[in-house]
Amino acid sequence: MNLLSRVASAALLVGLAPGLVSAQIVEATSVPPAPAFDAQGEPVFVNRSDVFEYRALESYAEPDFVAEFVAAGLLPPVAERLPAEPLVYKAGNMPDGPGVYGDVMRHVIGGRPEGWNYIAGNSQGWGGIDIGMFECLTRTGPLFMVNSEDLAPMPNLAKDWEWSEDGMSLVVNLIEGAKWSDGDPFDADDLVFYWDHHVMDPEITPLNGASQGTFGEGSTMEKTGEFQVTFTFTTSRPEAVLYAMAYGTFCPGPSHILAPEHPANSDNSYEDYRNAFPPEYLNFPVMGAWVPVEYRSDDIVVLRRNPYYWKVDDAGNQLPYLNEMHYRLSTWADRDVQAVAGTGDFSNLEQAENFVESLRRAADPDSPARLAFGPRTIGYSMYMNFSGNGWGEPDERRQAIRELNRNADFRMGLTQVIDRVRLGESLVKGPFTAEYPGGIYAGTSFYDADSTVFYPYSLESAAAHFEAAGLTDTDGDGFLNHPAAVLGGANVQVTLLSNNEYATDGNLAEGIVAMMEEAGIQVALNSLAGNDFDATRDAGRYDWMVRRNTSEYITVIQRPTDLAPVGPQTAWMHMANEAGEIDLMDFEAEMVDVINAFVATNDPTERAELMKTYQRLHTENVYSVGLTAYPGALIINKRFSNIPPGAPIFMYNWAEDNIIRERVFVASDAQSDNELHPGTLPGAPGGTGPMMAN
Ligand code: GLA
Ligand code: CA
Repeated sequence: MNLLSRVASAALLVGLAPGLVSAQIVEATSVPPAPAFDAQGEPVFVNRSDVFEYRALESYAEPDFVAEFVAAGLLPPVAERLPAEPLVYKAGNMPDGPGVYGDVMRHVIGGRPEGWNYIAGNSQGWGGIDIGMFECLTRTGPLFMVNSEDLAPMPNLAKDWEWSEDGMSLVVNLIEGAKWSDGDPFDADDLVFYWDHHVMDPEITPLNGASQGTFGEGSTMEKTGEFQVTFTFTTSRPEAVLYAMAYGTFCPGPSHILAPEHPANSDNSYEDYRNAFPPEYLNFPVMGAWVPVEYRSDDIVVLRRNPYYWKVDDAGNQLPYLNEMHYRLSTWADRDVQAVAGTGDFSNLEQAENFVESLRRAADPDSPARLAFGPRTIGYSMYMNFSGNGWGEPDERRQAIRELNRNADFRMGLTQVIDRVRLGESLVKGPFTAEYPGGIYAGTSFYDADSTVFYPYSLESAAAHFEAAGLTDTDGDGFLNHPAAVLGGANVQVTLLSNNEYATDGNLAEGIVAMMEEAGIQVALNSLAGNDFDATRDAGRYDWMVRRNTSEYITVIQRPTDLAPVGPQTAWMHMANEAGEIDLMDFEAEMVDVINAFVATNDPTERAELMKTYQRLHTENVYSVGLTAYPGALIINKRFSNIPPGAPIFMYNWAEDNIIRERVFVASDAQSDNELHPGTLPGAPGGTGPMMAN
């Protein structure tokens, strides 16, 4: 490593009398080069219009067993269940061509469903359940294979859209005549219910952070037709909103079932509303390809094909091809093990601890699964709670830590405590992990190495920064103390929130605790299962947290508003207090300006420049302490066809979206007999399970 180090007295930096402090600050430098690691498999790049179109076909077809329901008078004919112009996947873009019906994709997940009320903040347990149940206005997962000149969100429930001449409003046309899985019409009222009573309702914290700030402060949305809504904005042509209309932030729920339970229309509390559709409530209406028909606690969730699904292949076959989806309720590590062994069908190999064994087993030519690594898009950071004005009602100790978190020297000290080489190797040896300073990932389109500041590992320099932040070991027990005026000069004690569903999160958190201890900072782990982790984070009850990053650091354009605390409730590391006030530090305010300018321009050069400024502000001021970044691999059973080459496990979305599961199929001679409810379809909402034709 070529460290540009400088002999500088920390005392000079903080204006103390020289001689008081002898430790030396090691200056920031550039990021050390990452070991070469080539992605396996290149996407076949296409334009969005090569993938699908909306049009009426001469005739439509469905699986034979579904036709029996029609014959028995239990279901309208397929042509009546489909919209006038369904979404039609083009055969030319299907890697293995049009498919055949049948079989199951067996997923294994580490999360647990809280219930089906997705838009009120219920988690379904992740791992692709919600992605398969809820469709969104636009779609981003498949963009990994879209030509850069054509890069923009794909239409989905939103068939097309048009900007007004001044760019201040956007008319969105919805697919017409599509139905929820129980046959109820999907229309603009579903969107209005979502917008008015969720996005705009501060009592509801949606899962992935959609709030008004996500669409730009002051934006509105109104129904302007049975199948049309119109957005208005306070800046001209904020194209990023089209990405905010995709997975996570704009996937409406079935208003015909939800609205009667919402506090606006009932005596329910918000908590009652959120929990009105527990996992035991079966046949919850969806717009996605599969509907939950069976739930056994800590065991399995089974979903069956949605007979009203509004997508077809170009021969008119109603999708999906796969009749069933399983989600075994186990652990994330078990997902890797089962996928490699062939008892599960799919995994995002993302826990670096499992790389070596999974690679070894997949290398066997008789292995039931294929495994392909993608780019380095899995990365972790440590975030510090920046609210100094009361979010989550901190006690005195927490408040003292938040004030430290807001101190630049403290943060520079923290980042220099982290030995990223050792941390990466504690997960997996080999060319996988790269030292990650935080912010935009190396190798992605908005990354600029020259704008990235890296504070190298140096305990000595960290000590100097901590001293500059007022922390010294006054009682000589090896741990740094607060100044006498704070908490009576007690030892600094910090809690670190981490998600115990993943070995990686746990190992990184333990690595941080150990490294902090070497630097004289006592850290206690608060390690919680996913749903509790989310609740604790969203309530602001943490000092620091370890978190696997989401797409904003990869694609940037997708949700730029996640890159800085642009609104009172948009950033997990810095939320407003009860009064709605957010106490931004100067560099955060600068970051917010940069992001707002980014959202307001569509000029590529300007955008690139703004992101350079963002990256510098983020890394120089240590907005987050980057930890490690590495590639993940998609593991998928060899019997599946139509898996797009080069599909990354994570880019614009997770692989469960990227591979377009509704057009994945299993060739007739390769089909398994794994269906648990063959010959059945989803029944009535809230009903006991699937229904039979006779
Ligand atoms: C979890 C898993 C990911 C992916 C997502 C899908 O976060 O860890 O690999 O399956 O769910 O939402
Ligand atoms: Ca001490």
